[in-house]
Amino acid sequence: MSDAEPELTEAQRVEALWSRVPYHQYARVVAPAAAHLVDAADVTADDSVLDVACGTGNVAITAARRGADVTGIDLNGDMLEWAQENADLIDAEIAFERGDATDLPVGGGYDVVLSSFGHHLTSDPVTATEELVRAADPGGTVAYTAYALDGVVGDAYDALADYHPRGDDVVKPFYWGDAEFVENRFADLFEDLEFDRGEVHMHGLSPTHMVEHTLDISGAIRTPFEQATDQDALYDEWVDVASDYFADNVYTIEYLLVRGTV
Ligand SMILES: C[S@@+](CC[C@H](N)C(=O)[O-])C[C@H]1O[C@@H](n2cnc3c(N)ncnc32)[C@H](O)[C@@H]1O
Repeated sequence: MSDAEPELTEAQRVEALWSRVPYHQYARVVAPAAAHLVDAADVTADDSVLDVACGTGNVAITAARRGADVTGIDLNGDMLEWAQENADLIDAEIAFERGDATDLPVGGGYDVVLSSFGHHLTSDPVTATEELVRAADPGGTVAYTAYALDGVVGDAYDALADYHPRGDDVVKPFYWGDAEFVENRFADLFEDLEFDRGEVHMHGLSPTHMVEHTLDISGAIRTPFEQATDQDALYDEWVDVASDYFADNVYTIEYLLVRGTV
């Protein structure tokens, strides 16, 4: 997803997207999805685990609490600092390293390779998917979560496409949250592929509050919004989209969980 200027390197793009927002506030919202992912991958104390685009450490720390030997990789320095602070709080020993998910600075051999709302948000999710597979030991497990194409985030990006210089291209990262696309495009990378769905929730007072809050805490929402040709019209459309997923002061964000053996 190239939401910034095309001449930016991937590291600069990630800094521009994610260093301006207090993402650690939102990380709590997706913490249950990290537990879902670690559980689906059946992580045990015997496993070496790689958490790609680890952010503030949700998946890495959840896996470490099962006794696994964990490495977390992210390209954003702020995220890595938050991740280290989170790990230090419970004395979890995790190797957090700076690195690009589209060119992982690791050899193969991990028992489990995971990415939570991470690799599909890089500028090149095809290569990032191949990198997840490359990093895994033969017979190992690769699993990830991605925001569902037919959930609120996919719908919000559909609306964004009408106002963004990149048009329909902005929606592509959410194809990774569509089981049919993943099956058709990537089945040959895996011995087997399984799908599950889940949802996470934000609490608030109205669909408008939800739009405001996500603009505050997500670089993947704020940056493309600022690049939109008509922000007022897009804002109104996003409130309409949010209304479809808001009831009883709870906002529901759906995701796809993909699990494969390599
Ligand atoms: C939505 S956050 C998800 C973070 C975390 N996995 C979680 O579930 O909370 C996306 C993360 O992807 C990271 N990221 C984006 N592009 C990346 C890349 N090319 N290489 C490594 N990390 C990247 C961002 O820095 C950010 O931490």
